Order: sequence, then C-alpha cells, then structure tokens
Amino acid sequence: MKTTLAMCLMATAPFLFGVAALGADLRGHGGPVRAIAVTADGQTAITGGFDAKAIIWSIKTGEAREVLLFHDGQVDAVAALPQGRFASAGADGRIAVWEAGRSTPVAVLQGHSAPVVSLAVSPDGSTLASASWDGSVRVWPLSGGEPRVLQGHRGNVNAVAYLSDGTLASAGYDAAVMLWPAEGGAPVRVAMPAPLSALVATRSDRVFVGGADGKLSELNRGGTILAEGAASSSPITALAVTANERYIAASSIKGEIVLLDVKSLQPVRTFGSAGVPVWALAFSPDGKTLLSGGGDQVVGEWNVEAGQRLGTKIEGSADPMAEYAGNPDAEVFRACVACHTLDPHEGDRAGPTLHGIFGRRIASVPGYRYSPAFREMDIVWTPETVSKLFELGPSRYTPGTKMPEQTIRDPEHRAALIRFLQAETRSN
Ligand code: HEC
Repeated sequence: MKTTLAMCLMATAPFLFGVAALGADLRGHGGPVRAIAVTADGQTAITGGFDAKAIIWSIKTGEAREVLLFHDGQVDAVAALPQGRFASAGADGRIAVWEAGRSTPVAVLQGHSAPVVSLAVSPDGSTLASASWDGSVRVWPLSGGEPRVLQGHRGNVNAVAYLSDGTLASAGYDAAVMLWPAEGGAPVRVAMPAPLSALVATRSDRVFVGGADGKLSELNRGGTILAEGAASSSPITALAVTANERYIAASSIKGEIVLLDVKSLQPVRTFGSAGVPVWALAFSPDGKTLLSGGGDQVVGEWNVEAGQRLGTKIEGSADPMAEYAGNPDAEVFRACVACHTLDPHEGDRAGPTLHGIFGRRIASVPGYRYSPAFREMDIVWTPETVSKLFELGPSRYTPGTKMPEQTIRDPEHRAALIRFLQAETRSN
C-alpha cells in the first residue's frame, strides 16, 4: 500500500495557505500506523507500522530518534520494557527486543507460527506476553529461557494484558476472554457475544474488552461480566485506559475515537474523525494526552479534556517547520523533518543529517548507523538522484533501506524539495 506525498499534502492543505500548523503530529511511517506504546515517564513513544518499521520518538519534540528495521512484514505490536528497552512484533511471528543506540535487536523471541498482534509486560517487569494468530499466548522470561505456551483459544488471539497479581488476560476472535493464573493451572474462560479485538486492564484489575459488534464490556478478575456499553456502530480496533482509571478510549475501523467514563461506560466525547481506520491508541501516563495512529500514517496527539487534536491551534515554536515559514518550497520537507536535520550543529535524528547532502556519497555521515543495504550502494546525492529517490520511492531506488517508504509523484513537489534542500543544506 503506497500513499504519495502529494496525497499527504492534500490532506494537510491548510498549511499551504498558512492557516494551521500540525506541529504535534508524529510523521514518519510510510504506511498506516498499527501500534503505539508510551514509556512510563511519558517522554518516549514506540510505534509500529504497515511499513514494517518500528520508530522511536521523542514525544515532546516530535523527533524520530530511531527507525528500527527488522521484521518481514508489518509491525503489529510494540511495548515499552523496563530499563529503556523496547519490543516489537509483527506479521513474521517474531518478537524483537531493542536497546537504545543499537540498530539490531538484542534478543529475538521465536516460536509463534503466525502474526503476533499484541504484547504486554508483566507488572514486575520480568516477563513479556504475546498474543498470536497461531491461537496461542506465550509468556517469555525477559531474562532469557523458554516461554510458557498457553493454549486454549480457538482461533486468532488478538489482545493480552496483565492484572496486578500477574494473572494474564487474553481475548480472541473466538469471542472468549481467558484469564490465565500467574502460577499456572487451569484458565478461566468467559464467552462473550462477539469476536474480540481489544482488551485492556486497569491498575485495580478491571478488564475491558471490545469487539466486532462495537460494544465494550467490563469483567472483573474472576471473569464475571459487570457492565456493557456501546462505543461504536462499527468494530472496535483498539482500547486504552488512563492510569487514574477515569477514561477509556475506544477506536473503530471507521476512524472514530470515543472517550468513555470508566465508571458508567457512557461516552463523554468523540474525537474528530477523518474517516480512515484508527488501529492504535495510547494515553500519556498523566492521562492528559491520547496518541492515536491509523490509516493516515501519522500519530496524532489529542488533548483529552478539550477533545482537540494538539497542534491544530499551536503557532510558532511548537511547529518544527516554523523557521521556514514564508518559504513555499519548505512545505514538502514537512514529511522529512521528524527524521532529518539540515544544520551542521543539530546532528542526526532517526535519519542522518542532510547538511551538505549535494555532492555527498551515500551512507557517508560519520557515526551514523546506516543499514547494511545503504552501506553497499554506490550513489552520489545530486539534485537528480535525490529527486529519483522520491520519484521511485526509497524501497525501489535503495532496496533494503530503513528509510520508510514515501514517494513524491508530482514533479513540481520534487522540484520544490530540491530547491529547498539546495538552499538549506549548503555549508556556509
Ligand atoms: C521516519 C524517518 C525518515 C523520514 C520521515 C525520512 N527519512 Fe530520509 N532517511 C531516514 C533514514 C533512517 C535514512 C538512512 C537509511 C539507511 O541507512 O538505510 C535516511 C536517508 C536519507 C537520505 C540519504 C542520506 C545519506 O547520508 O546517504 C536522504 C537524501 C534522505 N533520507 C532524504 C529524505 C527526505 C528528503 C525526506 C522527506 C521527503 C526523508 N528523507 C524522510 C529516515 C527518514
């Protein structure tokens, strides 16, 4: 699935007329955003996309710190682990464990024979649970060793979450919620009315599941169904709950995000929808911001109380493109700014600095960890080759690259990008 930058530009057309700035969106994935997790300190997010990449972001600045390329196929699940580590998992059935500053995984957990679509870290940080379409749930000791394999669902397992005592809750396409005791032993199986796609647990062990019927149900730790609410008229795709247990957010395949009161399961407000599916939700630890990701390829940030997309009203310094205001050629660079700096003193983000790009050989910024594919290529960056890179797209022009896919179909937009880079990347 490819989307052209021209389409992105159309979607953000207000910028071109200087009306609004979307400074708070995290832009970088070359396909729909499928998974989001936020670290306990609220500073960092990891996202996974249909573009087979995981990206680590500074939430505050919107910078992409690292593009992680490992999976064959889309990245369906991500998690923030203790000690600054991260996990990603996806269509290839593998789970990769990442450490800051390393461009290859420090561990690869293999065993699932179908996509892994949900990950959860135990409250004590010692194990990682994975839900897979191979019908199993696995519990991996993070210190190494064999996983526990939990068999019981009859079909795709779509979601896992831990309760405070280490009990694991899982939900599946078989319309069942399973509660697996931490110390082993027989699980509790709860039959629900519809196939289930999402599950979250609060700190006080209230379990919420959402399914294909758009309904949200609450269970207690014993598996008793306590309450039910309607969140959407279309299938639920993701759920998130605030740490203070005040709000639960539910997104749907049609793209709406509904905020419900946890106590009453009544809708409190609905966040604007662009009509594209939302696949992932995550709250900041303080519950004030909701991150969403989906078909529009960006991670949006919402002010929970105001119900507004952050950045839509922010002018000036919060917009990373503010310093280029008034330069009509700059707009095309909005798709690059999360990953690339232009000034020599700003260093590298997830991508190498583009300072001095013209005349530079591919993969030649000292200290930047290029992909093996990039290091073996023989290209000198000129206006023609950079233009070609985005005419064909990185995956065709530089196969095996970790730069997420983007194409700029419109020759005018490519010309604007080149003019902008020529003006802003020169040494002086
Ligand atoms: C999500 C992050 C991300 C985005 C967005 C992104 N890039 Fe990149 N870019 C990278 C990464 C990562 C590399 C290094 C690729 C590798 O090692 O395989 C790279 C490499 C490059 C290179 C080659 C640099 C070199 O030193 O050889 C150029 C040129 C480039 N990008 C231009 C752009 C432009 C122009 C845009 C916007 C239209 C853009 N990139 C958007 C991450 C990104």
